[in-house]
Amino acid sequence: MTVLFSQRDINPAGLPRPLVDRHGRHISYLRISVTDRCDFRCVYCMAEHMEFLPRSDVLSFEEIDTIARAFIARGTRRIRLTGGEPLVRRDIIELVEKLGSYIGSGLDELTLTTNGSQLRRLAPRLAAAGVRRLNVSLDTLDEGRFRAITRRGRLAEVLDGIDAADEAGLKLKINMVAMRGVNDDEIEPMMAWAHGRGFGLTLIEGMPLGEVGIDRVDSYLPLKEMRARLAAKFTLEPTDHRSGGPARYDWVKQTNGLLGFITPMSHNFCESCNRVRLTATGQLFMCLGQEDMVDLSEVLRTHGPAALDAALDRAMQLKPKGHDFVLDRAHAAPALARHMSVTGG
Ligand code: 5AD
Ligand code: SF4
Repeated sequence: MTVLFSQRDINPAGLPRPLVDRHGRHISYLRISVTDRCDFRCVYCMAEHMEFLPRSDVLSFEEIDTIARAFIARGTRRIRLTGGEPLVRRDIIELVEKLGSYIGSGLDELTLTTNGSQLRRLAPRLAAAGVRRLNVSLDTLDEGRFRAITRRGRLAEVLDGIDAADEAGLKLKINMVAMRGVNDDEIEPMMAWAHGRGFGLTLIEGMPLGEVGIDRVDSYLPLKEMRARLAAKFTLEPTDHRSGGPARYDWVKQTNGLLGFITPMSHNFCESCNRVRLTATGQLFMCLGQEDMVDLSEVLRTHGPAALDAALDRAMQLKPKGHDFVLDRAHAAPALARHMSVTGG
């Protein structure tokens, strides 16, 4: 008779049984959307009038903490809090402090992706809680354009937030969604500004997630092309700097800084994907661009924390090979109805 040992049995040293999906990818990175709400309505991200998830469905901090601990026990080394805008969730610092206390005991890093609007107020407390790096979304340095893109943001407030984060000693990376006819003429000025201040700059291709306020086909800017254009003017030295994500980074010799490219549309990097995403209401999505999910909220609320471990194993069986985003006139509808603000950026 064959006796099937579980991985736990063959790993008596008590080391975490890693989360490995059926394509052999190690999942060591968890992104947690703490709210789908945001104080901005960026045209590529949201519709003008968004319906948000009912607050009663949103996970409590205690539930998020329980799920995060289940992941850390299975080898998760990095957690990123996202949204929506994570810093608009009330008392968010309490969660950051709680999760920050795991840094050094299982967790290597706790980071956030933010639009920067609350950083003047919160940056020092993020730093005190153990956060070392932030990604700040910023698509333009022009006040009028900023208002048009975000529909309601104030550029000065975000720039001041960035200053506050810098003063608090946080390392910053700027995320810029590159859009043809919207901000493609600002890529070089943004790079000069970001690198001049010691920040990295990562360019992102718009993804067809949810109904939004711009024409995705018209505004699509293939970054492969953009990189070639920049390479004609700057010395781009490919680096092996990896954030464990889909971004590829070049060192730009003239401006002395890192330039990243996230190219889900023109070049798919799913084969090295190391992450899964927890929504604000506790659904664990295995891919930004697919529907496969395990409802960890349901597992936790009906069966208790002890049931999470088996649910994570189930999730690993569901992780798809990759997204299959297509963007052309024949596929004018979004690939997924789910906005990025739900799944977590
Ligand atoms: N495609 C690409 N990037 C997006 N973001 C939000 N929605 C989209 C989309 N549909 C970006 C934000 C932020 C990051 C989390 O994702 O600008 O930088
Ligand atoms: Fe808010 Fe970020 Fe979406 Fe803009 S991109 S609406 S800042 S969540």
